[in-house]
Amino acid sequence: MLRLDLANVLSERIGPKGIDWPSALAAHAQRLEAARDALWQRKSDPAEFLGWIDVPEDTETLRRVLRFREAQAWVEDLVVLGIGGSALGAQAVAAALGKGPVRLHFVDNVEPEPILELLRKLEPHKTLVNVISKSGSTAETMAAFLAFRRWLEDRLGPDWKRHVVVTTDPVKGILRPYAQAEGLPTFEVPPAVGGRFSVTCPVGTLPLAFAGVDLENLLAGARKANEQARAALEHNLPAQTALLHHLFSQKGQNIVVFMPYSTRLRYLPDWFVQLHDESLGKMRDRAGQEVRTGTTAVRAIGTTDQHAQVQLFREGPHDKLINFVRLLNPSEDLEIPAVRGLEALDYLFGKSFFKLLDAEAKATAHALAKAGQPNYTLTLEQLDAYHLGWLLQHLMWQTAFLGELWNINAFDQPGVELGKEYTYALMGRRGWESLAQELRTEGVE
Ligand code: PA5
Repeated sequence: MLRLDLANVLSERIGPKGIDWPSALAAHAQRLEAARDALWQRKSDPAEFLGWIDVPEDTETLRRVLRFREAQAWVEDLVVLGIGGSALGAQAVAAALGKGPVRLHFVDNVEPEPILELLRKLEPHKTLVNVISKSGSTAETMAAFLAFRRWLEDRLGPDWKRHVVVTTDPVKGILRPYAQAEGLPTFEVPPAVGGRFSVTCPVGTLPLAFAGVDLENLLAGARKANEQARAALEHNLPAQTALLHHLFSQKGQNIVVFMPYSTRLRYLPDWFVQLHDESLGKMRDRAGQEVRTGTTAVRAIGTTDQHAQVQLFREGPHDKLINFVRLLNPSEDLEIPAVRGLEALDYLFGKSFFKLLDAEAKATAHALAKAGQPNYTLTLEQLDAYHLGWLLQHLMWQTAFLGELWNINAFDQPGVELGKEYTYALMGRRGWESLAQELRTEGVE
């Protein structure tokens, strides 16, 4: 189960910053139901970029992914070349559930030293490179592909082609025709699926197949989130959490802290931050009016960041809504042993690590509530593929619901375009000469 514990957002618990949940839900029922119906109705229109809803149903593609993985039994290292939505989902799930034996490496930056360090470590005969770019034009990913392709060809000759698999749009971009011309295996990013919503399609599933993740259950969990997102409001978890975010943003909680109590989920906040910020930080609404929406998502990990950020979360400004993620059961546990001479620690003796983790999560949530800082917790029965798939798809739905509540397009990212164009100009890309000139006059070169 994935459950919502919202005790620490209620007025009776946190005082004036709190809400009266039953009346808030009733007051917004019509709007949320309209949002739900609009999303489900629009999903078959490719221009709406709601293809991620149906992806978990696509078991045929999953079978192809699994067949491909089985045929590459020789792979010992898988290098993912991708950035943003083309890397973060697989990275988060692999860290949480990856079993090996294939080692996964994510190249999502163009700093030369780490790339060189990785290249020096890898054995080309045992390495598969998965270049992932929906657009097929992202400079960082393409630069990395050029480097890895050359590295493979220099060491393997014509055999380099066995060591590359391409994940890209079925028609758009330069990667697809290039892969065809070279005879490279390809997988699709469905046209109606944006990068940050793509973890359940081959963008995520192909690397995760090499990481040994139980993909059938990951997709089954995502389908469970779909079921909830279709349900009446009282069972519609993403509509409810979206409403929480909406209500608290109206109260001045402009920062959303996403804080799982799990080291295995350490990359999940990175994925969430991108999903949330790129989808919801918008200057204009769907009608083109200036609106300036968005709350800033912040990463944290429990318990680690209790010793870094929680001081601020508790005693700093009342501008945050904190979303904890807590596991109800460990996959395995470890007893804290008793040691003679250290009786000052006897409150720990014989207790389990998981019990301590759980106590820390509950204690922090309560301490924040006592300081009037709203926080809610999503609890997962346990950390497995099913529950993680459910959580990922839940968070995508939450984002889509918020887009509806704020009347913005949560599926585009116009704000990142200009930076990309300036990069092209600064790198001397053909066709960008006048922008390069403009930048020079502005003192940027
Ligand atoms: O969510 C998004 O759309 C972005 O983060 C993209 O995934 C990112 O910019 C990479 O794009 P592409 O897959 O086209 O290389």
